[in-house]
Amino acid sequence: MAHKILALAGSPRRNGNSETLLDRALTGALQADPAVEVRKMVLNELKFVPCQNCGFCTGKGVCRYAASDDMGPIYEAIESCDRFIIASPIYFACVSAQLKGMVDRCQALWARKYLLKRRHPNADRRALFLSCGGFKHDRYFKCAAEVVSAWCAVCDVKLGGELFFPSIDGRGEIESHPTALADALAAGRELMK
Ligand SMILES: Cc1cc2nc3c(=O)[nH]c(=O)nc-3n(C[C@H](O)[C@H](O)[C@H](O)COP(=O)(O)O)c2cc1C
Repeated sequence: MAHKILALAGSPRRNGNSETLLDRALTGALQADPAVEVRKMVLNELKFVPCQNCGFCTGKGVCRYAASDDMGPIYEAIESCDRFIIASPIYFACVSAQLKGMVDRCQALWARKYLLKRRHPNADRRALFLSCGGFKHDRYFKCAAEVVSAWCAVCDVKLGGELFFPSIDGRGEIESHPTALADALAAGRELMK
């Protein structure tokens, strides 16, 4: 069966640095496996409420708001895809609010896995995380990596690769990085192996 990739763009800046990395990784994935089906979601263009900690999902493993906001299609894509590419800029030493909001809404999947003991049937699901930040220190990626790693664990997805690019700030700066685009292309290819 053809692989399915869910590509999540976490930046509010369209075609910015992290989305450029995402698109380059998708190109690599398509080079490695032309039959792959790609679903790209720009989180800033979707409307969903932050997790309300209402407790509804603890009994059912389903979010109360799944049918009434744009998380519904995201849950469906998380369920049906087997490859994930997540891209986010660093905002205040973490992922963007757009990505964090989506991650928090996956508390329903946490309940499904840890309370209801339901695991995803596909044991070969893998993810790649791509990020960039304006500061030169790479410590700002630590918290972001933890968030994505926790999300992967909840979704029964193995975090198979991470690429972090510090000192990337202005729109398009990633294009002048000596290796970033080639690195993302190679990582996208690798994801399909
Ligand atoms: C609200 C906000 C917070 C930011 N916080 C950080 C930060 O803590 N560390 C960092 O390295 N860069 C930070 N940046 C810079 C962005 O990560 C940087 O501009 C990045 O290249 C944007 O990627 P994008 O084009 O994909 O949106 C911040 C930018 C904004 C707008």
